[in-house]
Amino acid sequence: MRSLIAGNWKMNGRMADLRRIVAPLGAAAGQLGCDLLICPPATLLAPAARLLDGTAVALGGQDCSALADGAHTGELAAGMLHDAGARWVILGHSERRANHGESDAAVRAKVLAAQAAGLAPIVCVGEHEAQRLDGQAVAVVSGQLAGSLPDGFAGVVAYEPVWAVGTGRTPGEADVAQTHMAIRAALVARFGTAGRGMRILYGGSVKPCNAAALLAVPEVGGALVGGASLDAEDFLAIARAAPQLSKAGQGG
Ligand code: 13P
Repeated sequence: MRSLIAGNWKMNGRMADLRRIVAPLGAAAGQLGCDLLICPPATLLAPAARLLDGTAVALGGQDCSALADGAHTGELAAGMLHDAGARWVILGHSERRANHGESDAAVRAKVLAAQAAGLAPIVCVGEHEAQRLDGQAVAVVSGQLAGSLPDGFAGVVAYEPVWAVGTGRTPGEADVAQTHMAIRAALVARFGTAGRGMRILYGGSVKPCNAAALLAVPEVGGALVGGASLDAEDFLAIARAAPQLSKAGQGG
C-alpha cells in the first residue's frame, strides 16, 4: 500500500499562499511513489480544486458537521466539502477535541456523515503527555478508536500524540511502533480483513529531518503534517522520505 502524506494547514492560508504552495506540489506529485493530500481551510477548497485539476494531489477538509443542510449557522456539511472538491476530511483532531469539546461519539457521528457524502475520513487519536507518562497511551488510543470509529468505517487513522503536535517533540521510534501495532491490532479485531488494509498515519512535529525515520517504523502508513505542510519544499521532502511504491505495485 502506498504511503499517504497529508498536509493539515489548520487556520492558515490565503489565496496567495495557495498559489505558492500548490503549484510545486501539483508539478511533483505525479513522479512520487506515495499519495499526496492537502487539507487547506474550507475557504480555499474550491480554488485549490481548480489549481489542482489534472494533478495527483488530493484535497480534503479539516472538519465537517455531523448534520446535513439546514439551520446550523457557521457549520459546513460534508456534502458541501465534497461539492467544493474535497474527497477527504480530517475528523477528531486533538485541537477540535480540546477546543470544541468533541467527544468520541461526536467524532463517530461526523465520520458517518462524511462517508455518506463520499468523503474518506482521517480520524485522529492520541494521548496527552500525562497519560503517556502514566503508561496509558495505548489504552487511551484504543478507547478513542472504539468510540470514534463506526461500524463500516472505511478510512484512515492518524495517531497524533497531543504533546507532539506543534512542539518539535516526537515519540521515540519504539513508542511509535508500539502504538501503531496496537492500533493495527484494534482495527483487525474490529474490521477483519478491511482493518489490515487501513492506513495508519503518524502526526506530530513531522519535519524533513525526522520523516525518514518515522515513516520507516512498522505500521506507519504515512504522515499527517501540520506546520511543515505550509512550505512546499519541506512537504515534498517529507513525501520523498516515504517508502516509494508505484501505483501498479501497491497491492491490496
Ligand atoms: P505539526 O506537524 O505542526 O506538529 O502538527 C501536526 C498536526 O496536528 C497535524 O494534524
